[in-house]
Amino acid sequence: MERQEKLKINGLGAERNLKGTVYISGAKNAALKAMAGAVLFDGPVELHNVPDTADVRTIVEIMTKLGARIESKDDVLTIDPNTITNTDIDRKLAGNIRASVMLTGPLLARYGKTTFPAPGGCVIGCRPIDLFLNGYRKLGASVVEHDELFDIKDGNFHGGEIFFDKVTVGGTETLVMAATLAEGRTILYNCAMEPEIVNLVEWLNRGGAKISGAGTPTITVDGTAGKLLKPVKYEAIPDRIEAGSYLILGALIAKELEIKDCEPEHLRAVVSILSDAGVKINVDDKAKTIVVSNDNAKNYTPLNDIRTHEYPGFPTDLQAPLTVFATQVNGKSAIFETIYENRFKYVEDLVAMGANIRAISERDVEVNGPTTFKGTSEISPGMIIPARDIRAGFAIVMAAILAHGESTISNVHLIDRGYEDLAGKLKGLGVELERISN
Ligand code: EPU
Repeated sequence: MERQEKLKINGLGAERNLKGTVYISGAKNAALKAMAGAVLFDGPVELHNVPDTADVRTIVEIMTKLGARIESKDDVLTIDPNTITNTDIDRKLAGNIRASVMLTGPLLARYGKTTFPAPGGCVIGCRPIDLFLNGYRKLGASVVEHDELFDIKDGNFHGGEIFFDKVTVGGTETLVMAATLAEGRTILYNCAMEPEIVNLVEWLNRGGAKISGAGTPTITVDGTAGKLLKPVKYEAIPDRIEAGSYLILGALIAKELEIKDCEPEHLRAVVSILSDAGVKINVDDKAKTIVVSNDNAKNYTPLNDIRTHEYPGFPTDLQAPLTVFATQVNGKSAIFETIYENRFKYVEDLVAMGANIRAISERDVEVNGPTTFKGTSEISPGMIIPARDIRAGFAIVMAAILAHGESTISNVHLIDRGYEDLAGKLKGLGVELERISN
């Protein structure tokens, strides 16, 4: 039923003078890892500021099938890992979500075995798991692949040295968790430095883990030799990708948009790029608030050779919203995707709505602005544009809000994976939209 849902958006056209406040939710990409990390604790743990997104619900389902007892109230999830009886990750559910593979680290650390399928997730590139498997082997596990399942047994993790050939957020988090209860010391080199990793590690350390270096390229884990962690409360950091998405949108449609409950420290790259393009932004680090205005929109300048990058660089997860921004400035912008091989598919949808974007390669686009977007009903009656993944979905919503006329967007369940209450938050700003179920 949920999968049938669509968004109908009445575009603003030239009337871009919204005003309002948006409150940022907890980071789904932090909360999902903490849910997996709960397996390392000796008793129920409370996870706070967990966003109500579809991905969180899928991991709840997967963990419940493992036997974990999970309760949810408002933005708090309480997970009791001591009731886990099964270490085989559900094949069908894992096919829907990449983060399912992150459960394998804590399951191996605690139970010494797990079976899981190659994970699914957004269609943005091939997204292999070789770095996870190599890491497990380095820690002493045997990995057997059969019937499209991976069967891993550890024979007791003993610590070791792991060098990531490629910087990987999920790989870093998962191998850190895998090493947390091991015998001896594990050193991980060329780690990702995302704030979500720091958020996870600080919590594990409060529970008794001995991990240093999170937020730098080298992380050292001194294993607890099998001792489970003492239950302590976790709180997810604000979602920097949700905040960045609204920041970019606000720069185009709002006389004044106040973004509250965010962490400006985590948004330096996007604030810098937008400011350089002429966007008026006021950052209040102490109040955890950013105010953005489109006052100077007529004078926005093109984006010069933007390259997505691991943190603290410009995040790949904001590449699609930034491409929409580039369609609204005067002149030629260039955007290069360095993390994924296949993350520009949505460009053809923007082009269908009127954008002038040329693909130089699968990773490289040139955007010629400004574009006057046409709503799908203006292009042809009954036309529907699909959300292709979480972030491309937000980008298409942006184009529909900027457009003249009404647009219909399908696959809303993909946007729901990462944006809590998208429709409610946009309505609160004055965007006219409704969710329809057929
Ligand atoms: N990679 C490998 N082998 C591996 C693991 C990764 O080649 O074993 C490659 C990936 O294919 C990709 C690159 O390394 O090309 C980086 O992937 P990474 O492992 O860092 O990504 P992830 O941990 O799977 C998280 C976020 C993504 C975000 C990326 C990059 C979560 C649940 N997901 O994914 O978020 O794009 O980091 O910042 O944390 C989203 O929220 O929309 C989303 C896709």
